[in-house]
Amino acid sequence: MPDAAGIQQLRIDDARRGGKMGVPVLTFFNNKGGVGKTSLVYHLAWMLSDMGYQVLACDLDPQANLTAALLDEDYLETLWGGRSDSSAKTILQCIQPLTRTGDIQKPTLTRIPEPSLIPGNLALIPGDLGLAGFEDTLSSEWPNALGSSELYRPFRILTAFSTVMQSGAAQMNADVILTDVGPNLGAINRSALIATDYIVVPLGADLFSLQGLRYLCPTLNQWRRDWQQRKNNWTQPDFPLPDGRMQPVGYVMQQHGFRLTRPIRALNEWFNRMPEEYARNLLGNEEGPYPATPAEDEAHALATVKHYRSLVPMAQEARKPIFHLTAADGAIGSHAAATNDARQDFKDLAKKIIQRIKSDSA
Ligand SMILES: Nc1ncnc2c1ncn2[C@@H]1O[C@H](COP(=O)(O)OP(=O)(O)OP(=O)(O)O)[C@@H](O)[C@H]1O
Ligand SMILES: [Mg+2]
Repeated sequence: MPDAAGIQQLRIDDARRGGKMGVPVLTFFNNKGGVGKTSLVYHLAWMLSDMGYQVLACDLDPQANLTAALLDEDYLETLWGGRSDSSAKTILQCIQPLTRTGDIQKPTLTRIPEPSLIPGNLALIPGDLGLAGFEDTLSSEWPNALGSSELYRPFRILTAFSTVMQSGAAQMNADVILTDVGPNLGAINRSALIATDYIVVPLGADLFSLQGLRYLCPTLNQWRRDWQQRKNNWTQPDFPLPDGRMQPVGYVMQQHGFRLTRPIRALNEWFNRMPEEYARNLLGNEEGPYPATPAEDEAHALATVKHYRSLVPMAQEARKPIFHLTAADGAIGSHAAATNDARQDFKDLAKKIIQRIKSDSA
């Protein structure tokens, strides 16, 4: 269990927020697809909850892959197929009234595992394929937040993700909110990032990830500036607005996307370019010197996630994180050893991320 003082330090000072929106939001973001974002959120959400933190995961990707990983199909069918009660469970159900004349509905959290008699430390605000339809509403309200009248509605819509997540976090007394987003720079992600305090950038070992980094930085800078401009336009907001800090805390290298037919040397060549690219693009450090390898980039390289090979389908089948696999799931011999290694690796990564959030908010 984490010590109480440690948990307290995770929360962001309410005064700094100008309101009661104090639970840090951590988003795994890279507009390059398939770099292991969802898998990272899934495993870290479980790991942090195993470590004793109260964790709220939120699926803001209209593909809803995180939701599909955390919930079984029967439950999903009920969730998406029509509601037996009027409670709002998915992110779309919470924000949908806004697209008419209503207001945001408080989320009824889905406890993981579901069904669970005794609530654990992990809860989810499930995603929804229909969330894609909200993209246009977010786009059209973006300029309206710079207008001179009727600012309530545009701001309510643009900050809807933040409001829903913070409301869910308050209900469960969460220590941290982890969000999963899709691989693009569209209006849904802009709103997700406005709600975000800290960003972890997952990277693959290829040109696409490198190119993704080059687009990420100007976009984040633009979103931060634009959001600040809008906030300045509403000097006396009727509800707390998120800071839109979007502060990068580091990057995570992924080995799994690498084609195994290529030599390991090529993998390392791509890996070794990332410290400089990250420093230049995300941190604006044009001067160097740059670490020669991620291993030497202690300040920013959070981890290299291994290729877990056959443990991945085994864990998907068992609907568990890799480090929960047991002999009954088929994790025997070298698989059992790999499962233990994975537990240690994710624990180290979780600790590093928590440490960065703590030192930033101290
Ligand atoms: N460490 C790993 N070892 C092996 N396979 C992995 C690993 N991490 C992720 N994968 C696999 O790689 C694929 C892509 O991963 P994931 O869905 O997490 O990426 P993503 O960045 O969320 O993708 P998208 O951009 O489409 O949302 C999945 O099939 C996943 O099972
Ligand atoms: Mg994903």
